[in-house]
Amino acid sequence: MHRGKGMKFVGDSRVLAPSERKPNIPKDYSEYPGKTEAFWPNFLLKEWMVGAVFLVGYLCLTIAHPSPLERIADPTDTGYIPLPDWYFLFLYQLLKYSYASGPYTVIGAMIIPGLAFGGLLLAPFIDRGPERRPSKRPLATSFMLLALVAIVFLTWQSVATHDWKKAEEQGKILPKVVIDKNSDGYKVFKGQSCINCHGENLQGGAGAPSLIGTGLKPEQIAQIAQHGRNKMPPGMFKGTPDQLKKLTEFISGLGAK
Ligand code: HEC
Repeated sequence: MHRGKGMKFVGDSRVLAPSERKPNIPKDYSEYPGKTEAFWPNFLLKEWMVGAVFLVGYLCLTIAHPSPLERIADPTDTGYIPLPDWYFLFLYQLLKYSYASGPYTVIGAMIIPGLAFGGLLLAPFIDRGPERRPSKRPLATSFMLLALVAIVFLTWQSVATHDWKKAEEQGKILPKVVIDKNSDGYKVFKGQSCINCHGENLQGGAGAPSLIGTGLKPEQIAQIAQHGRNKMPPGMFKGTPDQLKKLTEFISGLGAK
């Protein structure tokens, strides 16, 4: 038996398979014991079993960690800061740098990704050398490493600089409540400046949070209404103690369990 007799590289598209084989006649695998096997059914069955393990794994993961849903998208909410899925974060992050955003958006959105993905697309035509070892292909290897480092760095930057607290707040699913706009409490809410920031339906907006289901007690709300908190300025409530009572009880009762 001379060297390489009957040998076949099926994984390498550049090596042509000898065409002496008749179609649909299975090869005699006994020549390579333990080295090879029939595609059907042996190999496919193994593939399928691995696939089944992953499928069940993903099912368990989905049940253990339900997808973090947000409220229904509102196209009129210009304050909402959207975030792409994790595998697009590097492209998203690129658009935050001053040389790739604003007047240069075309650089961040088209030119840099275009060069990178275009290069990847053309790689098989540009790099036609027969070498397979990474060390023998310095250009291809260094471009790949550069891309890997860039993607990991940009993804990490994006995660590290995102305002996750605000993201959680803006996407919150609010309990559905019917707001009685004829109630005394609502009238005070409207009469005082509260409505300007917290919205007509107390849904929040423009940086102010929703007042539905806050879980706050009337006294706590009175405290915030009079003295403010963080970004809410003090002295927003200017009415009488009776109005304050009605207002705080109204807000406290919204979406309360
Ligand atoms: C200038 C805009 C503005 C006005 C007017 C305003 N708020 Fe606020 N409010 C805010 C902001 C911003 C916050 C978030 C404060 C924080 O981050 O701690 C807030 C927070 C609150 C909270 C706490 C909500 C929570 O879930 O913890 C309550 C209660 C509240 N406001 C009630 C009122 C009432 C009652 C009025 C009217 C008397 C009012 N606000 C008027 C901007 C405003």
